[in-house]
Amino acid sequence: MKNIKDFINQIITGDNIEILNRMPEKSVDLIFADPPYNLQLQNELTRPNQTKVEGVFDDWDKFASLQEYVNFTRQWLQACRKVLKDNGTIWVIGSYHNIYQVGAIMQELGFWFLNDIVWIKTNPMPNFKGTRFNNAHETLLWMSKNKNARYTFHYKAMKTYNDDLQMRSDWHIPICSGKERLKKNGKKIHSTQKPEELLYRIILASSNPDDIILDPFSGSGTTAAVAKKLGRKYIGIEKNTEYVQASKERIAKVETIPSKLLHYKIEQKPPKVPFGSLIAAGLIKPGENIYNHKEDRSAKVLANASLETPDGKVGSIHQISAWYLNKKNHNGWKFWYVKRNNKKILIDDLRYEFIKMIE
Ligand SMILES: C[S@@+](CC[C@H](N)C(=O)[O-])C[C@H]1O[C@@H](n2cnc3c(N)ncnc32)[C@H](O)[C@@H]1O
Repeated sequence: MKNIKDFINQIITGDNIEILNRMPEKSVDLIFADPPYNLQLQNELTRPNQTKVEGVFDDWDKFASLQEYVNFTRQWLQACRKVLKDNGTIWVIGSYHNIYQVGAIMQELGFWFLNDIVWIKTNPMPNFKGTRFNNAHETLLWMSKNKNARYTFHYKAMKTYNDDLQMRSDWHIPICSGKERLKKNGKKIHSTQKPEELLYRIILASSNPDDIILDPFSGSGTTAAVAKKLGRKYIGIEKNTEYVQASKERIAKVETIPSKLLHYKIEQKPPKVPFGSLIAAGLIKPGENIYNHKEDRSAKVLANASLETPDGKVGSIHQISAWYLNKKNHNGWKFWYVKRNNKKILIDDLRYEFIKMIE
């Protein structure tokens, strides 16, 4: 058994089941898998003007029977489960052709459903024959390894991403086109290259900088490219040498966002330091006055960490700030300032100074 370091930041050429079985157990943090869809397209598809549709007619999508597809799915999912850390999660994307089988097998293997996300294609390929509804979405299954796993989910960051609205399970994203689409002599290199925004959301939401992200069906290297951009480590596995070559060239051009821009500062909680500790540590002196931002309200700090207003009202930093604002409750940490060298400092910031003093 090799060390995980031997696999990191590489696109490995070969059969994924065989390679996954050589990787150490419980070594990756996040898996994104975009397996063959088993579309079973037999004949060429043409538009009404008789031009050929570039659909998925590739050999990698062909299976002799549904049973063969099911067996293959169970094997690669089992191999993925072995290399996934206990608190890691897995995403699998598919269409109606395969996603129901995939989901059932995942549950059978012990994975635990967190969400199914519907990727709504804002610019889907039309149904040229006009024989069915236009198929305008794909489904992503997101599962943890076990029911009680402590998985990563950056709820606050995703809400901020979505203009302060809770991120929902329907994602409206265009299919991959334009400059993002890898082409050679004007032809698509890969028939199912996924849009980078899909992976951007997945990796941001469910991993941390430096985590190891595995894609066992790497194709044109979308997962690895976005993982590198977001300061994560990647492992891609792909059996087609042309795709491997194209993805290596693609990944080499990707620049990693500087690490100081990758931290989830939005999720950092203020340190739990009571107001009294600031007084005991000498950061605020009994008898000194503290002020609101406009400095038209003040209160004197008493030795026992309560405040007294000029007209004799006594209470906690929260009670006195609420009283001044005519509210029932208020967070005093964001209301009161001390004066130091003619500058105002929010008392909340003194908590960070206190943490530094005791570290
Ligand atoms: C649906 S495509 C993935 C596309 C990829 N998400 C992208 O954005 O480019 C599936 C890929 O899996 C590869 N593949 C299929 N079976 C495989 C296997 N057993 N081992 C490794 N790669 C395999 C195919 O060659 C194909 O490139």
